[in-house]
Amino acid sequence: MFYPEELVEEIRQKNDIVDVISSYVKLQRKGGSYMGLCPFHNEKSPSFSVSAAKQMYHCFGCGVGGNVFTFLMEYENYSFVEALKHLAGRVGVTLPEAEISEEAKRQAGVKARLLEINKEAAKYYYFQLKSERGQAAMNYLTNRQLTEETIKKFGLGYSNQTGNDIYQYLKHLGYEDDILRESGLISFDEKHKVYDKFWNRVMYPIMDVNSRVIGFGGRVMGDGLPKYLNSPETKLFDKSRNLYGLNFARTSRKQNFLICEGYMDVIALHQAGFTNAVASLGTAFTGLQANLIKRYTGEVLLTYDSDEAGTKAALRAIPILKEAGLTVKVINMKPYKDPDEFIKALGAEEFQKRIDGARNSFLFEVEVMERDYDMNDPEQKTRFFNEIAKKMLQFTEEIERNIYIEAVSKKYDIGFDNLRKLVNSYGARLGTGENYKPKEYTERKGKNLPGKDLPAEGMRQSQRILLTWLIEDLRLFDKIKGIIAPADFTEDLYKQTAELLFEQFEKEGRVTPAKILNHFESKEEQKEAASLFSLELSSEMSTKEKEKALNETVQRIKKNSLEMQSKEAIAKNDIQTMQVIIKEQTDLQKLHISLTDG
Ligand code: GTP
Ligand code: MN
Repeated sequence: MFYPEELVEEIRQKNDIVDVISSYVKLQRKGGSYMGLCPFHNEKSPSFSVSAAKQMYHCFGCGVGGNVFTFLMEYENYSFVEALKHLAGRVGVTLPEAEISEEAKRQAGVKARLLEINKEAAKYYYFQLKSERGQAAMNYLTNRQLTEETIKKFGLGYSNQTGNDIYQYLKHLGYEDDILRESGLISFDEKHKVYDKFWNRVMYPIMDVNSRVIGFGGRVMGDGLPKYLNSPETKLFDKSRNLYGLNFARTSRKQNFLICEGYMDVIALHQAGFTNAVASLGTAFTGLQANLIKRYTGEVLLTYDSDEAGTKAALRAIPILKEAGLTVKVINMKPYKDPDEFIKALGAEEFQKRIDGARNSFLFEVEVMERDYDMNDPEQKTRFFNEIAKKMLQFTEEIERNIYIEAVSKKYDIGFDNLRKLVNSYGARLGTGENYKPKEYTERKGKNLPGKDLPAEGMRQSQRILLTWLIEDLRLFDKIKGIIAPADFTEDLYKQTAELLFEQFEKEGRVTPAKILNHFESKEEQKEAASLFSLELSSEMSTKEKEKALNETVQRIKKNSLEMQSKEAIAKNDIQTMQVIIKEQTDLQKLHISLTDG
């Protein structure tokens, strides 16, 4: 029986891997992942790690790895379909026996229609804004200093004052009540009376990563309440896994992302040239959003409101972002409230200065902590340093920890050794002294693959590395475009993985590693593919080193691929193809991919 990919993926997403594995293995949180004793080999100290961010597991001891399906296949000796059934049952998804693809088709049809409806609505709101009826809304936006170009780029609009204007319009386009109800744009009361959810508001279409409208925010044009109304969650609109502005930010080609709080902040930042700004959708920042960002960049700068609520929201977001493996800094916008107001008052250049001066998030957290203590009172001051020392334990690398100890001890003038002793005393208590090294790469480093044919193994290694890199840093897809294609991966499994990755990136602008594993039904293949995603490569490399390694890897893979092609052409006596290959070989020698331009 064939199950549609969408359904398999839904079941995988609904079954959090940490939850599932926890019912078999005792897991303990260690930094960004969870560790436990490997159930697949005998061991006394834990080397089995489960990553919530990646939704994968991996054992550094025996090398097993995979997603939630693989785990059950290994542990329970289930077939893929058995694992799927088990996990579907666990989260209450029924797998219809025969008509499954019909149902999937119907669901896909619903989604497609909802997309159409949102698009039509956005066009309608935009048209209203431009019409006479939208004059007040237009004035509102102009007063907020938005240009015509910005309004168009973000597709801003206006919802009319009359009670069911968009309903009438969508009906007229032929959409039935049933589907309109699902769109979230229309409310029906018990007496089947119909209201537009949004009326007399400035409309902000919310787009997914592919610029498809999936929902709306609507703002009152003045001081009315609620200030913003947002579309409810629908089959299309999941607030926890979308970000406002991401469709633009993902191609901004800046080194980092700016995360702010409001729609207007994103818009003002983009208008001022900061096209890497995104915001969550009126809800708290989630791990899914952090993972989404991690696909495009390694560093984020928080530019949350400078008031109490904004500071709290920033403090909540920081650990979530860090857990996804992002470096976090915090922008100080004082004396202004948010980026929109800052830019209006001081302009883009001054904002750029604040970006350049962004504080490390740990030092920001320490500063906020300081407010709770009276530093003139010796007892409180001592408590404050103890809190800092405990907090320092999040840095599991000694070098990194020492850098922070140095920064903090300088700032508060307490002496490096004093603070270090305090930190180590906490570390010892928690069993995380100076030798504590839970990070994946420290364990992985220098691991040899003995007993294999070396040149062939080297080639496999290069192909693996490139795939892992692509997953870590999505910018590379554009960098290697036209140079490396899936066909250049000569290992079957890697070729298949490459095809899936390229396809995901092309279609969705992102990649979902755990989803790729769904494509491999045998445990061996799943395990092999999974290991691609559990390596960490570039975290310790400088850009320069990375660039050198990338060029070497790409050269090696392409060269190998051209050699294979040329062997084939020679065998067939295909002179034309030979000529093309020779030209490509010459071009390859001149190739240089830069990681710093663009
Ligand atoms: P402006 O006042 O137009 O500048 O708004 P802003 O973009 O600065 O937003 P603000 O910082 O006030 O709020 C941040 C985000 O929270 C907004 O973009 C909305 O997504 C959300 N939000 C704000 N007010 C409300 C509200 O009353 N209801 C809901 N549901 N969300 C809100
Ligand atoms: Mn604002």
